[in-house]
Amino acid sequence: MKIGVIGGGQLGRMLALAGTPLGMNFAFLDPAPDACAAALGEHLRADYGDQDHLRQLADEVDLVTFEFESVPAETVAFLSQFVPVYPSAEALRIARDRWFEKSMFKDLGIPTPAFADIQSQADLDAAVASIGLPAVLKTRTLGYDGKGQKVLRKPEDVAGTFAELGSVACLLEGFVPFTGEVSLIAVRARDGETKFYPLVHNTHDSGILKLSVASTDHPLQALAEDYSSRVLRQLDYVGVMAFEFFEVDGGLKANEIAPRVHNSGHWTTEGAECSQFENHLRAVAGLPLGSTAKVGESAMLNFIGVVPPVEKVIAIEDCHLHHYGKAFKAGRKVGHANLRCADMATLQAQIIKVQALIAE
Ligand SMILES: Nc1ncnc2c1ncn2[C@@H]1O[C@H](COP(=O)(O)OP(=O)(O)O)[C@@H](O)[C@H]1O
Ligand SMILES: [Mg+2]
Repeated sequence: MKIGVIGGGQLGRMLALAGTPLGMNFAFLDPAPDACAAALGEHLRADYGDQDHLRQLADEVDLVTFEFESVPAETVAFLSQFVPVYPSAEALRIARDRWFEKSMFKDLGIPTPAFADIQSQADLDAAVASIGLPAVLKTRTLGYDGKGQKVLRKPEDVAGTFAELGSVACLLEGFVPFTGEVSLIAVRARDGETKFYPLVHNTHDSGILKLSVASTDHPLQALAEDYSSRVLRQLDYVGVMAFEFFEVDGGLKANEIAPRVHNSGHWTTEGAECSQFENHLRAVAGLPLGSTAKVGESAMLNFIGVVPPVEKVIAIEDCHLHHYGKAFKAGRKVGHANLRCADMATLQAQIIKVQALIAE
């Protein structure tokens, strides 16, 4: 089976690493000459709107999937004429736009921060008056790793902020005084069968994920699964979807969804019976889903900007290096370490060792 992937970054690369043993081949469509997934499959180097290359991709593969959500709707519609596309155009339409996303949460009765659509500075001034400060202004589309957003703390922060974010459609959200951030990685098969990985605790720094730790018997697991199931059913979703939640007042508020494999699920490569990457491919290919059960205690630490010396990373016991083969650049995700340990105490000790290496 040959899988077409829109996007050729590290998520595409890790999909191919998981799918190759299943006998799958891969083709990636990505305009970047140095797309790091190209090492694992064919690279169609073209823009996402290039119909000749989209047609070529559709002709070559059995189905198309995505490694990022900011795909133009026309690209999905065009491909869907010729080849099955998972997840659907509708799922991408919702997930790529924070206004549609939060409106869906609200419609489904899923708690989410107060939010308002912002099309001008006047809209922003009015929304700040009703939602209050602190608040977060985010571009509706194309934001990632905390880019395209600004926290507004004082009244002085509000003036000119709409222009500062590019005078594009935005969303204002009430700032959530969360006690923690968790994410749920779910996978739904073509026949509706759904499985969930254990909730993951996430720590961000400047909007970028730094550390994910998989939980055991998290008290909010059932609630997170309930909220997520509503979304998956609503979208008749096929594939892996990630749900980011704020933990607040003993409950959850939905922050965002990602219609793809997710950074906070990278630990599943060594830490679960079947990884998020393999389960995504199983789902879209119409194959039986694999077990999402945890194997040991796991954590993931991102390498931002630079991967520490390989020999030092792999010298840490229980540590598995994932190097993306990308050029090192400040603020860029270039690799991660997965730790899988026998118990929590060992895991905590090994996390400190990896953190020390990152700080060197
Ligand atoms: N409404 C909010 N209240 C408090 N913190 C927030 C809020 N929205 C975002 N954040 C913080 O910023 C991080 C990145 O925001 P997010 O909306 O998830 O954007 P991205 O698409 O960049 O991941 C979140 O993980 C959280 O730490
Ligand atoms: Mg996020």
